[in-house]
Amino acid sequence: MNEGAIATLKECSIIADIAKSRLSEIKSKQLNIAEDDEREFRTYSKAEAQSWLGVEHATKLSRAIKALETSSDPIIFEREANGHYKFTIHDLHTLANAMNIPKFIRKDTDKCQVLCISNLKGGAAKTSTAVNVAAGLAVNNNKRYRVAVIDLDPQGTSSMFGVPNLNDDDFTVGDILQGNFELDAGESEKDFVRDCFKATSIPNLHYLPARVSDFFFESVAEQMKIDDHDQPNSDKNRTYRILKERIIDAVKDDFDIIILDTAPALNTTFYNAIYASTSLYIPVIPELVSLDATLKYLERLKDIYAIAAKAGHEGMDFIRMLVTNFDDSGNKTHITVHRTYKTDLQTIFSNRVLAYPLKHSAAIPICADSYMSVFEMNPKEYPKARGKLVDCVSNLTDVVNEIEVLCCQAWPSISTKMR
Ligand SMILES: Nc1ncnc2c1ncn2[C@@H]1O[C@H](COP(=O)(O)OP(=O)(O)OP(=O)(O)O)[C@@H](O)[C@H]1O
Ligand SMILES: [Mg+2]
Repeated sequence: MNEGAIATLKECSIIADIAKSRLSEIKSKQLNIAEDDEREFRTYSKAEAQSWLGVEHATKLSRAIKALETSSDPIIFEREANGHYKFTIHDLHTLANAMNIPKFIRKDTDKCQVLCISNLKGGAAKTSTAVNVAAGLAVNNNKRYRVAVIDLDPQGTSSMFGVPNLNDDDFTVGDILQGNFELDAGESEKDFVRDCFKATSIPNLHYLPARVSDFFFESVAEQMKIDDHDQPNSDKNRTYRILKERIIDAVKDDFDIIILDTAPALNTTFYNAIYASTSLYIPVIPELVSLDATLKYLERLKDIYAIAAKAGHEGMDFIRMLVTNFDDSGNKTHITVHRTYKTDLQTIFSNRVLAYPLKHSAAIPICADSYMSVFEMNPKEYPKARGKLVDCVSNLTDVVNEIEVLCCQAWPSISTKMR
């Protein structure tokens, strides 16, 4: 090997050691977060609980609280120092169940919605959208939709939110795709896959995490393709159906809405995501570089989808673009650029662009720093002006409501009533 290459290898090795050591510090912080329950999630006042529960009279809620507090197996609801209640989202579920507030129950005719968040452009806010929309769908109203996020990016960024304490012996989406698991005696594959979905701070939100080694699925899939190529009667498209058949089909009765966070890569995992999805959401930042890259992706979308269609996909309910990181309060020139490209997108793609953009907000990265969606952050713990968090939650609520309507439109038993 040439001397220059040897020196570069040495430099890479030094950089790798630094990265490894910093990663292990971050990892131990994450593990502490889970063990010490360090994350302080948002709570709801009695008035907020009443509104979330949709109870008209406060006395009805007071009676339900008292009944639970004085039952033979009493529930202790926590209070602020001033004696006011501070209900967790778990408490709201307990109260809703005790008050017989009906949950959303999906009819057999209405299929589990699988929303694929995809754009080959890196940094288009796929993960921020996936994580925050999933939390919003789960907590926004008292329907208690059963929501899951599947992290299909080996970077594991969305996993940091749902499963910050991922252990080495936890199974990831990549383990399941590669078949890297052994079933216990009497355990079915379906039960195993369901158990791989991790509970989060929100009772009706689960995560199937990812880790870097999930990338090896690509080599496994390549080998399968080579093997199939030599077999005259083999199913040449089976590698694109593994996510749907092994994971989605196993949990489709456990969840109403599953969100797939994808990597900015055109590989077999990505085709699996397209094949497993019922709708496609494409986040795009309204700036020339992001728009240009997105348009190049959209130009090829037909060829990309053709591969999923050939594998047997039965059609998307929706394909929508979502303007992300939309700046409407910063530098004037920046605002003008963003407004121009947003309007441009809406003009050329009309209602294929969601009406509400996901606005740029410091609350997104600040909450992410505590491994939280903006819906989980306690406003009192928010380090910056609290109003910024409230504005961000309000904006995301509009986006989430729009996506919820689209899901409802895809459920025939609901859409017939909506017309
Ligand atoms: N609305 C927003 N306001 C402020 N920052 C945002 C917003 N949306 C995303 N970001 C920031 O932009 C960066 C990229 O976002 P994100 O990780 O969600 O993109 P991505 O498309 O998932 O990236 P990748 O292609 O690497 O998976 C992050 O630092 C995130 O905090
Ligand atoms: Mg991402």
